[in-house]
Amino acid sequence: MNILLLGSGGREDALAWRLKQSPSCTRLIAGPGNPGIARWAECVEIDPCDPTAVVALAQREGVDLVVVGPEAPLVAGVADACRAAGIACFGPSAAGAQLEGSKGFTKDLCARHDIPTAAYVRIETEADALAALDRFSIPVVIKADGLAAGKGVTVAMSREEAEAAIRAAGDGPLVIEEFLEGEEASLFALVDGPRAVAIASAQDHKRVGEGDTGPNTGGMGAYSPAPVLTPELEARAMREIVEPTARAMADAGTPFSGVLFAGLMLTAAGPKLIEYNVRFGDPECEAIMPRIEGDFAALLHAVATGAPFDAPSLSRDTSMTVIIAALGYPGTPVKGGRITGLGRAEAIDGITVFHAGTSSDDQGIISTGGRVLAVTARGSTLREARDRAYQAVDVIDFEDGFCRRDIGWRELERSA
Ligand code: AMP
Ligand code: GLY
Repeated sequence: MNILLLGSGGREDALAWRLKQSPSCTRLIAGPGNPGIARWAECVEIDPCDPTAVVALAQREGVDLVVVGPEAPLVAGVADACRAAGIACFGPSAAGAQLEGSKGFTKDLCARHDIPTAAYVRIETEADALAALDRFSIPVVIKADGLAAGKGVTVAMSREEAEAAIRAAGDGPLVIEEFLEGEEASLFALVDGPRAVAIASAQDHKRVGEGDTGPNTGGMGAYSPAPVLTPELEARAMREIVEPTARAMADAGTPFSGVLFAGLMLTAAGPKLIEYNVRFGDPECEAIMPRIEGDFAALLHAVATGAPFDAPSLSRDTSMTVIIAALGYPGTPVKGGRITGLGRAEAIDGITVFHAGTSSDDQGIISTGGRVLAVTARGSTLREARDRAYQAVDVIDFEDGFCRRDIGWRELERSA
């Protein structure tokens, strides 16, 4: 089968790497891709958020399956356009993508179907938001309603901070919600209509600084599995959160198809939904892909076409991804630094270096800023994966980069 993968980050490099190893993948095209993805796919210049351009490319190249990496093309209706043109697409419709695109939509769905999540109110104006604060204790969480790449959320530790966040947001849709206490874990499920199958768990590190301090980022590192999400808790999260969501979407006439990524808070009262994403996590995907066995391309095709599918088998290995970001990230990152030593890093057993923000010239690889590399290691234990990942980080030469040295710390402390 011919596959077109949309996107250009570390998540897409990991997806491309895994798809290319699938027996049913004969040709892999990536739009627009990056120099890492170019190792496994033919990269084609395209705006992945332009439904007409995506359909035209897929038709021109005889594509059998479009796999959408990031959320923006889904919200823009790329999956709808592909399906309307008779092209199988892994990823939800724009209606399904509301589970990520609108926090208010998801909160209302949870309320209607008794899905455990933080108590909340939806607000439209600054004045109403300030008044609604009285109904919550501190800490309290303020969220902008649209896609914000993880940056539209304030966990306010004081009333003053909450008011400042509301004033900074101004008028416009907001969600104010109860602060949930516990440890976070991510659960990934393949969903087709009312059917949902768990594939893997992961934990990421959203804060830029060691010890989980400093501003939020897209994610500075991840590992899979997340043992804190025990098989019992995972089954409970599927039963109480993911499966009722899949049924609710199907019953509403907007069946979900693709991967549903549930961000969970493991509270004393059980798992509660923090948020949904309608695509694989980045960098969780980089950590999960090396653990997935079997014909991954065939699996995604089955989900996309409504054919029966089972959960993939997972290797018993643990996998860890350490992000190397450009200095300044998540503020104003330095661009253009040269990167060498990638070959040395990948010569280490169990290492793959996925490219998140790179370009290339005739002398090699250059950073384009933001998250730049996703150094991924497999190991028989988390400790072994961690040691290999940092061994690889240490042979990569990238002056303008930095990474957190403590990825996996919670789990490593627990297993010490
Ligand atoms: P979100 O974009 O909704 O995932 O929020 C970003 C981060 O804010 C989450 O990963 C949590 O660490 C934190 N967060 C969001 N909502 C809550 C909540 N209700 N209680 C505690 N922390 C939260
Ligand atoms: N790493 C979190 C996300 O992909 O949204």
